[in-house]
Amino acid sequence: ISNIATCTAPVNIAVIKYWGKRNEELILPINSSLSVTLHQDQLKTTTTIATSRSFQEDRIWLNGKEEDINHPRLQSCLREIRRLARKRRSDGDPGLDSTGLSHKVHICSVNNFPTAAGLASSAAGFACLVHTLARVFGIEAELSAIARQGSGSACRSMYGGFVQWIMGHQDDGKDSLAQQVEPETHWPELRILVLVASAERKPIGSTSGMHTSVETSCLLKHRAEAVVPVRMDGMIEAVQRKDFPAFAELTMKDSNQFHATCLDTYPPIFYLNNVSHQIINLVHQYNNYYGETRVAYTFDAGPNAVIFTLQEHVSEFIQVVRHFFPPETNDGQFIKGLPVNCAP
Ligand code: DP6
Repeated sequence: ISNIATCTAPVNIAVIKYWGKRNEELILPINSSLSVTLHQDQLKTTTTIATSRSFQEDRIWLNGKEEDINHPRLQSCLREIRRLARKRRSDGDPGLDSTGLSHKVHICSVNNFPTAAGLASSAAGFACLVHTLARVFGIEAELSAIARQGSGSACRSMYGGFVQWIMGHQDDGKDSLAQQVEPETHWPELRILVLVASAERKPIGSTSGMHTSVETSCLLKHRAEAVVPVRMDGMIEAVQRKDFPAFAELTMKDSNQFHATCLDTYPPIFYLNNVSHQIINLVHQYNNYYGETRVAYTFDAGPNAVIFTLQEHVSEFIQVVRHFFPPETNDGQFIKGLPVNCAP
C-alpha cells in the first residue's frame, strides 16, 4: 500500500429540488437547487481508498460486494481526479511522487443506512468517493464539480449545513458548482425525521425519470424558468433569517411541484403512494390546528417522507404520527433514525 485514506460523507435532503439536465454527460441541471446536509454521524457513507504499486487494476466494493468499475460516472470521477493530480504534479508540487499517479486504486464503500430506506445513497456515495480520492492523491481543490459528474445531487453533499447548487450557464459546466449558504451551526433547532412509507425500491430511478420529464413535461420547463429562480431567492432568505414558516411553506410547495411535474411527464411517474398522501394531509391538518406552520414534508423520487420541524415540536409530532400510524401496523419501522439533528 502506498497511500490510504478513509472519509465519510452525509446524505443531503433537497428543499428546492433538482429535476432535469441540460447536459446528461456532464450532469448540468436546468435549475439551481438547495439542500440541507445531515449531520456526519447520521445517514452517511464511509469510503476507504488504497493505492498500491501491486494493484493490477482499479476495483470497487459497495457494501461488501464487488461492483463494475467501468460504470461511466465512476470513470468520470476517477479521470477528473487523476487529471487534477497530474496537473498538480506538472505544476511542480512535490506532494505526490510521480509513480503514485500510475498506481491503481481499490475502493471500499459502505452506507450506515439500508438502501431500502429510500434515501438518496448516490449523493453521499459519490461525494465520499471524490473526497476520499482527493485525499489519496493529495489534492486540495474545489471538488463539487467532480462530485456532480458522479451524481448531480452529490455536489451538495461536499458541504455541510445549507447548500445551494448553482446551475451555471457555461457549456463546459465549470460554473455549475455547490456553495454553502449557511454552515451547520446556523440553525441548531432544526430537526429532520424520516417516515418510511415503503421500503421497496423505486420503480423509476432519478436519472431516467428526469430524462423523460425534460422530454415531455412543459410544466417542468415552466418550473425551471419561472418558478425555481424566485423560490431560490426566497429560500435563501428564509434560511438566513431562520424563518421556519417561510422555509416550511417553500419546502412543501417545491416538493408538491416536483411531484406535479412527475405526473405531467408522459408516461406519468408516480413516486408517492397512499401513505405519502396521508402524511401530506396529516401535516397540513396539524399545522392548521395550531394556526401556524410547525412541520413541513418533502419527498424525493420515492414514497418516503422527510419531515422538517423545530426541536420544540418533535416529541408531540412523533406522538401524532404514532397515533395515526400505530407501530404494530408497520413493524415499528415507520419512523426511522429519529430525530436527525442537522447540527454538529
Ligand atoms: C429528486 O442526483 O440522483 O432527489 O444526477 O441523475 O444522478 P443524477 O440524479 P440524482 O437526482 C436527485 C433528484 C432528487 C432531487 C434532489 O436531490 O435535488
